[in-house]
Amino acid sequence: MTEEIHKGLAGVVADHTAVSKVNPESNSLLYRGYPVQQLAAELAFEEVALLLWNGELPDAAQKEEFRAFERSHRALDPRVKSAIDLLPLDCHPMDVGRTAVSVLGANHPLSEDSSPEAELTKAKELFAAFPAVVAYDQRRRRQLQLVEPREDLDYSQNFLWMTFGEEAPEEVVDAFRVSMVLYAEHSFNASTFTARVVTSTLADLHSAVTAAIGALKGPLHGGANEAVMHTFEEIGIDPDETREEAAARAKAWMEQALAEKRKVMGFGHRVYKSGDSRVPTMKQALDAMVDYYGRGELMGLYDGLEAAMGEAKNILPNLDYPAGPTYHLMGFDTEMFTPLFIAARITGWTAHIAEQRANNALIRPLSAYNGPEERHL
Ligand code: CMC
Repeated sequence: MTEEIHKGLAGVVADHTAVSKVNPESNSLLYRGYPVQQLAAELAFEEVALLLWNGELPDAAQKEEFRAFERSHRALDPRVKSAIDLLPLDCHPMDVGRTAVSVLGANHPLSEDSSPEAELTKAKELFAAFPAVVAYDQRRRRQLQLVEPREDLDYSQNFLWMTFGEEAPEEVVDAFRVSMVLYAEHSFNASTFTARVVTSTLADLHSAVTAAIGALKGPLHGGANEAVMHTFEEIGIDPDETREEAAARAKAWMEQALAEKRKVMGFGHRVYKSGDSRVPTMKQALDAMVDYYGRGELMGLYDGLEAAMGEAKNILPNLDYPAGPTYHLMGFDTEMFTPLFIAARITGWTAHIAEQRANNALIRPLSAYNGPEERHL
């Protein structure tokens, strides 16, 4: 009998989900029924998180309650700080993020309590606590001291405050907030599916999130936002160049890369074949940052790569393509980009963990054996 193999599980519908709907035909993405573009235009990231967890938009009392909760759970846990301090400065920041979540789990009194209430508390705490991990890691790599959180700032403002030690301008805060909303959730992507696989064994939430971070690290998934910037760096960013000159160099680079059969990160998608629904909104945020910082030469590279990829292979950018340069302009080191994706996706992962737990079946596919026939010593 020949089994049908679905390599990479492409096209396989593994389960139901009510968290989000990706529709490649209409090029749309809905979180709990709401178009992500509307959410990005109108809501704070904290409200989107509540929507993903609860299934409905929060009312005023729920918003206020979470506002107070989130602001009081932001400080870097000293045990997490000690663990981070043991990690070398040249390790990847995703390793730091993964370790931090693991330490938080090991120390959590509700670690083995998988009741919906305990799970939601842990999810909210992780959401509130993770920005300090990224901010502290970014600062220690620059030999800078930890900056304490501020309760008078919202999630995005405070994230940037803890990272850079100064209040970010409104334009930057808004682009950052948009990126968090867009990165929050995307159905059964590799890291979310990983979180669901771990949850399906009845393991704890922090184990599932730690595993998801491992899956997110790779350049075919979350690591692509970092890889996009490495591409820009490889081509060379020249502030004295015109947009047209930069575009021409980027085009030549892309032609060469494709001739060498290289995969260019930030392009293509397993599900969307006619464009990633999140890109136009993220591109607007990038344009706002380019205007704010006056960095047109970066957009020369951006446009040149996009045009050349389109002409050669008709492959379109995914969310990581505009997100990478956006984070670069904000001042994050390139290696910090994917940990920012963790901060956002904690919401989606934990919403899926809850959904998996509520209606669990062990995830355990089959394989078609193609090794040697039975043999004996
Ligand atoms: N650069 C060059 N060629 C590409 C690319 C790319 N980025 N993406 C797809 N192709 C080509 C690929 O070489 C193949 O060509 P051929 O049929 O001639 O061998 C064809 O398109 C199909 O590609 P595939 O990799 O088999 O298709 P897939 O559905 O497995 O790909 C993907 C999805 C995301 C893994 C792939 O597009 C890719 O590797 N992109 C680069 C990594 C990236 O940007 N990942 C982020 C994904 S979206 C957001 C996120 O999760 O973070």
